[in-house]
Amino acid sequence: MLKLPALVDVHVHVREPGQTHKEDWDSVTQAALAGGIATILAMPNTQPPVFDGATLDLALNAAKEKARCDYAQFVGAGPTNASVVAALAPKAAGLKMYLDSTFGELRLDDMTLWTPHFQQFPKSAPMVMHAESRTLAAAILFSAMYDRPIHIAHVSLREEILLVKAAKERGLKVTCEVCPHHLFLTKSETPSGFAEVRPRLATQADVDSLWANLDVIDCFATDHAPHTRAEKEAQNPPPGFPGLETILPLLLTAASEGRITIEQIVEKMRVNPQRIFNLPEQPKTWIEIDENVQYEIRAAESFTRCGWTPFEGWRVKGKVRKVVLRGKTAFEDGQILAQAGSGRNVRLDYPQLEASPHILG
Ligand code: DOR
Ligand code: ZN
Repeated sequence: MLKLPALVDVHVHVREPGQTHKEDWDSVTQAALAGGIATILAMPNTQPPVFDGATLDLALNAAKEKARCDYAQFVGAGPTNASVVAALAPKAAGLKMYLDSTFGELRLDDMTLWTPHFQQFPKSAPMVMHAESRTLAAAILFSAMYDRPIHIAHVSLREEILLVKAAKERGLKVTCEVCPHHLFLTKSETPSGFAEVRPRLATQADVDSLWANLDVIDCFATDHAPHTRAEKEAQNPPPGFPGLETILPLLLTAASEGRITIEQIVEKMRVNPQRIFNLPEQPKTWIEIDENVQYEIRAAESFTRCGWTPFEGWRVKGKVRKVVLRGKTAFEDGQILAQAGSGRNVRLDYPQLEASPHILG
């Protein structure tokens, strides 16, 4: 039995408010726990999008009532809300900026709309970019001009990982994440409707360059983006894959094949997410894994509401047996034991030692 720190997923689409037929705070946190993940950071492209105080409260109230693991909620950058989201920074996971086209309404096309966010969002709070290819180069330029850290979501291309590497070598404040589907799937292998995802699945050369540059990748994140099977089978399927329950078995299988180490998995799914996103220690929290169990991935056995997985039938090695969250067993042998509402907001519900210097003496 392998005992590891509980993992963090910094990129999850919860779908609540607005699209709870795809997922909600209850089902998504059950999926997280089953995947060995005890903290999720939720993206703001819900319906309505989370982009001001009222919509943030809508998401946080649902989370407070239903979440079974720890969490925080991103706010989304819009054309006119820079001062509003800057004021919400202490309550939020960070700011998400959609600079390229994807699912939902949040999108900042014109670079003049980026400027107020770079000027006003607190430098100490995380800023995450959906910025593909040349947009990524522009985002890095803004980070350099305003001298503030940025985190690049779902890097998928060779040209992107090499650009992030070059930026880091020059001392720029750039971190990045890579998703399992970009590490394990290529565009030629996956059937059409089910292959829709942003960033798109790429070529074998792109996949190879991600594996060859593991040291440039700060985090693995799922971009868990559930859409139902019926939606994926219809005309114009929405982009997005579920991922919470498959990321760790896929990585453990890669570890069993010598492609990555367990230490690298922990670094990219606990240590670095905690540092980059200012996350608290979770006392008495760990996961237990049976490294030798082999099984086939089956959507029918998963907790996500979406009902399918791009990894259906894949044979993997390594199973999450148990998750202990703050001293309580939250998941064990396929059963969710944590109660709805037992999850904590990592921004609001943990003791803020920095904010109370008198307690520290
Ligand atoms: O494929 C994607 N789906 N990429 C995104 O950036 C958004 C996500 C979603 O929300 O469905
Ligand atoms: Zn996403």
